[in-house]
Amino acid sequence: MFEALPEPKADAILGLMAAFRADTRTDKLDLGVGVYKDSAGKTPVMRAIKNAEKKLLETQDTKSYVAPIGSAAFCNAIIAQVFGSDADTSCIRAAQSVGGSGALRVLADLLKQGRPDADIWLSDPSWPNHVPLMQAAGYALHTYPYYDAQTGSVNIEGMLESLGKAKRGDIVLLHGCCHNPTGADLSMDDWARVVKLLKDNDLFPFIDLAYQGFGDGLEQDAAAVRYMASELPELVVAASCSKNLGLYRERVGAAILMAKTEAEATRALGRLGGVIRSNYSMPPDHGANTTEIVLSDAALNADWKEELETMRLRMVSLRQAFSEALRKRSNSERFDYIAEQKGMFSRLPLNTAQLDKLRDDHGIYIVGDGRINVAGLPESGMEQLADAICTVLAE
Ligand code: LMR
Repeated sequence: MFEALPEPKADAILGLMAAFRADTRTDKLDLGVGVYKDSAGKTPVMRAIKNAEKKLLETQDTKSYVAPIGSAAFCNAIIAQVFGSDADTSCIRAAQSVGGSGALRVLADLLKQGRPDADIWLSDPSWPNHVPLMQAAGYALHTYPYYDAQTGSVNIEGMLESLGKAKRGDIVLLHGCCHNPTGADLSMDDWARVVKLLKDNDLFPFIDLAYQGFGDGLEQDAAAVRYMASELPELVVAASCSKNLGLYRERVGAAILMAKTEAEATRALGRLGGVIRSNYSMPPDHGANTTEIVLSDAALNADWKEELETMRLRMVSLRQAFSEALRKRSNSERFDYIAEQKGMFSRLPLNTAQLDKLRDDHGIYIVGDGRINVAGLPESGMEQLADAICTVLAE
């Protein structure tokens, strides 16, 4: 049996995380895995989550099963967060999922049942785990150009040209906001062009929304999803609570679908429940239950939004400070794009040898494609970091 198994494929992000943990240097710097960090370099449990957990501990009177699709109250709260509290949600349904990745996978399985011949189109680049997640659901994958490294913005013409070649019925995976790994987002004018193409060519939108609240704000970051929902007949969204509620290890998310009719939505949700039941039966409860308390209690909700906004603004100011330090050190504007981009990530133009050198000589850990976690940037060490980067770039 096991002797027949080939060596496992390394995961670029998780591999880097393990290497960082194993490094005994005290002045090392982790710009790798996408977790928020405060100015002390910690990933704290958010205040509202702590308080909701206390409440949960006091009030929860059973650990009995919930259901394959999880808690209806949790799902409705996430639907309202994504589509807006006054949206018409009659054709929208959601299932609680095992993080955003769990939502991606069960939605991929569901869409496979609906359109077995569809292929999936991913942005180039995309979050590396999109590839095995979608392949595991049985899809053939294609990529569309996305990032213009010269300008640090979206290559919208290349994207539209490439997606124009997708066959009718294919699925297009889109990052709803805060593109991972580039931080380059579509403008609303770009979204209008993409949506027109999806509509004209009968392409199906599969939206990964992992960073709502980390870009321009909780409501603003949902603008693209809401626009698509107003223009297109159907879509799915994989929403994550890992980042905006800091619930990474609790695995909380929602697999959301919008169908053409209420009856189709209800049937699709039933099928989604079947997908979940045949995978892991039911989602874990603790993180979703805690989220439900935060989202339904006015005081906790306000406190959560305040803390989330503080986190977002910290990342915005780190972007500005880093881009400024690079501007000074390189005496050029070539890194100004970092201040313009959104969310948790940006990419630096570093090759493998340069990344290895940064890690070996300076203890700076950056993902192999040059992606940095903006939240990991050192508030009081920007000059040294800019100096190390510009030094390896010049060698
Ligand atoms: C990331 O992109 O770093 C995060 O989404 C963590 C992960 O699972 O890769």
